[in-house]
Amino acid sequence: MAVPDRSMPCAGSRASPIDLRSDTVTQPTEAMYESILKAPLGDDGLDGDPTAVELECSVAALLGKEAALFVPSATMGNLVAILAQTTRQDVVAMEASSHIYIAERAAATLTGAFYEPIAGTAGAMSLDRLEYVLTEHRGRLKTGLVCMETSHNNAGGTALSLAHMREVFDMSKRHGASVHLDGARLFNAAVALRVTPDAIAACTDTVTICLSKGLSAPMGGVLAGANSIIGKARAIRKMLGGTQRQVGIAAAAGLVAINSMVARLDDDHRRAALLSQGLNAIDGLTASHPQTNIVQVDVSATGSDATHWAASLGRMGVLVRPWSRSLLRCVTHRHLSDGDVEAAVQAFTSVNSNEADAA
Ligand SMILES: Cc1ncc(COP(=O)(O)O)c(C=O)c1O
Repeated sequence: MAVPDRSMPCAGSRASPIDLRSDTVTQPTEAMYESILKAPLGDDGLDGDPTAVELECSVAALLGKEAALFVPSATMGNLVAILAQTTRQDVVAMEASSHIYIAERAAATLTGAFYEPIAGTAGAMSLDRLEYVLTEHRGRLKTGLVCMETSHNNAGGTALSLAHMREVFDMSKRHGASVHLDGARLFNAAVALRVTPDAIAACTDTVTICLSKGLSAPMGGVLAGANSIIGKARAIRKMLGGTQRQVGIAAAAGLVAINSMVARLDDDHRRAALLSQGLNAIDGLTASHPQTNIVQVDVSATGSDATHWAASLGRMGVLVRPWSRSLLRCVTHRHLSDGDVEAAVQAFTSVNSNEADAA
């Protein structure tokens, strides 16, 4: 069967805006569509879907874990990991600006666990504070799980050092806690640190990866860990309604994602650095120096807030997200070229001079 051409408009001739809002906007590749058409399918709720099984085995091998489980989203992967490794009234410790704490904390109402934020720097938890939370049970609650995140979204895509991850892991183990990693962008961290994904996963008991960010699959994530935990996680996924049927449709794209989309993340990182360099040359803007594909831009010195900047850039065909009153978040991904980055910098320059003229 012929695969229709769904390629994105290219730079220069683009009819669509330059979309820096997130790497989640990436569309599936032609190879993904082709593999979906050919994927052997089964019933993942009955005797299994062979393509989902292949994806689960591949991710487990890549991360050096015994087993893995396809999940509809990274959010569900994190939730299942917490439910599988805690009992009600456990404390789950995590860096205070992590995605699990900031964006997924409402799940505490489902887990019954108490989410304890630990102050951090560049996404890395304070070890002093973590040790206190692991040892001082406040007379009541015990910390059963510690969660890390790499690359760290709210810290501007920073990759945790392996030394820090190892310290967190060893300290948690010494105090009887398990360790989960929100590795929604684990591959970005691995590429940035020039390490293999299993070197990162070695500092964890469980890891969630996301297939639908820079890796460009349309949906899904995978939770990896020991057989005993993944067995439990499979039952919890079912309870949450996350068991799907011919899920190989999604897993086929996921296999292409992990097998052929990781090395190219370097291009996204290089373009993020290019963007940061261009923005830092504009008066009044301070851009973070990205380790991966996320650039945070501080607009406070321009006299306009981030929402105003996002609206002005949007009118010029550049989409960004206000991240706080003074911060914009820009994320590079597969659909952006060097030319798009230059055009985006140009748009920032124009908005800045329009604002100066209006002042
Ligand atoms: C670090 C991190 N973890 C988890 C998620 C949740 O991913 P999903 O939208 O696939 O549930 C996100 C989404 O942006 C994220 O950035």
